Amino acid sequence: MTATAISPLAGKHVVLGICGGIAAYKSVSLLRLLVKAGAEVQVVITPAGKEFITPVTLSALSQKPVVSEFFTANTGEWHSHVDLGLWADCMVIAPATASTIGKMAHGVADNMLVTTYLSAKSQVFVAPAMDLDMMAHPSTTANLALLRSYGNIIIEPDTGYLASGLTGRGRMEEPENIVKVLESWFAGRNDLAGRRVLITAGPTYEKIDPVRFIGNYSSGKMGYALAAECAARGAQVTLVSGPVALEAPAGVDIVKVESARQMLQACSEAFPAADIAIMCAAVADYAPAETADRKIKREHSEVPVIHLVKNPDIAATLGAAKKPGQILAGFALETDHEADNAAEKLSRKNLDLIVLNSLRDAGAGFGTDTNKVSIIDRAGRTDYPLKPKSEVAADIIDNIVSRL
Ligand code: CTP
Repeated sequence: MTATAISPLAGKHVVLGICGGIAAYKSVSLLRLLVKAGAEVQVVITPAGKEFITPVTLSALSQKPVVSEFFTANTGEWHSHVDLGLWADCMVIAPATASTIGKMAHGVADNMLVTTYLSAKSQVFVAPAMDLDMMAHPSTTANLALLRSYGNIIIEPDTGYLASGLTGRGRMEEPENIVKVLESWFAGRNDLAGRRVLITAGPTYEKIDPVRFIGNYSSGKMGYALAAECAARGAQVTLVSGPVALEAPAGVDIVKVESARQMLQACSEAFPAADIAIMCAAVADYAPAETADRKIKREHSEVPVIHLVKNPDIAATLGAAKKPGQILAGFALETDHEADNAAEKLSRKNLDLIVLNSLRDAGAGFGTDTNKVSIIDRAGRTDYPLKPKSEVAADIIDNIVSRL
């Protein structure tokens, strides 16, 4: 954003929730940046938050009294969490501690911040900050998954030096980046309203016998991030997903499949009505020619041989059926000759664009929370830096929206 450009946050009502964690010192910068972008900010702080930063600093910067308790002690004035929830164009909780995340996930409304959260009708952004072991605890993971399932956007924490002296994942995202997430959400909001998007995600499992399959390491994270991004931007999303351990993003219509043939069937049904299709699944290229109906036993006189047959190419099938106006995007995960292979797939499958990730780039590809991509189309190539998959998804969707 240039110095003269008006921020999409200008005039927006932002409730900034601050919890009791050391990263609360960064909330002061965040507040300053939000105000500088033109937002009207109401700070709601938990009692523990006040142990880390003083409400005087926050009220001076926001030019509003800070809300913390249900009542003002000396006047008995009641603060309405319902009014605040309705006033907000968005709520951002930064830092969000493990305790507050847990309360938000389970509706434990014992302070002003959580009651405001429960009353908020607008988009809520959550920027966790905690020590690496708390961050990695299954309860934190489960609670964040619940918040995602409620439609909240999690601004993932960074990995780096933590206040405990340890190094790991749990540093609150930098205030500048939190502001960027909010700006792009306000800027891009609803630019996919009325559009239908079909997305494939995850691996396919090709059955050998009732207990074994041919599969791959795809986690589905990139496809699910794309689905969440499209839904947040107002699209009607059909996510055709192979077997993964992820919750369906809020507002997304999920079709769970196992094999490439099932995935093709679901895609063929959804594609005619789609404006955009994004083929993010890691589809197995081959499947066993036959699936044994009983478990193949070890006591064979010879080592069994599994004969394979080619799977249908889903992207190419949709590419052949594509009508004018439909946009078809593919992915290419390559280990060598990346650009040439991606360009060849672009033309062979009749894609409009292909997202290339190279397994040679650290932090890119399967299983990671980050990705580093290039988008290749017939006009050329755009390279993007290493980013969390949620932000990569926003870049990809921005690119696709510019073609609509
Ligand atoms: N794809 C698909 N159906 C397949 C294979 C791939 O829809 N049977 C899609 C993928 O979702 C991706 C793109 O095609 O969007 C490229 O996938 P990739 O596995 O890289 O391409 P392949 O054609 O399988 O080529 P190769 O495995 O030889 O690299």
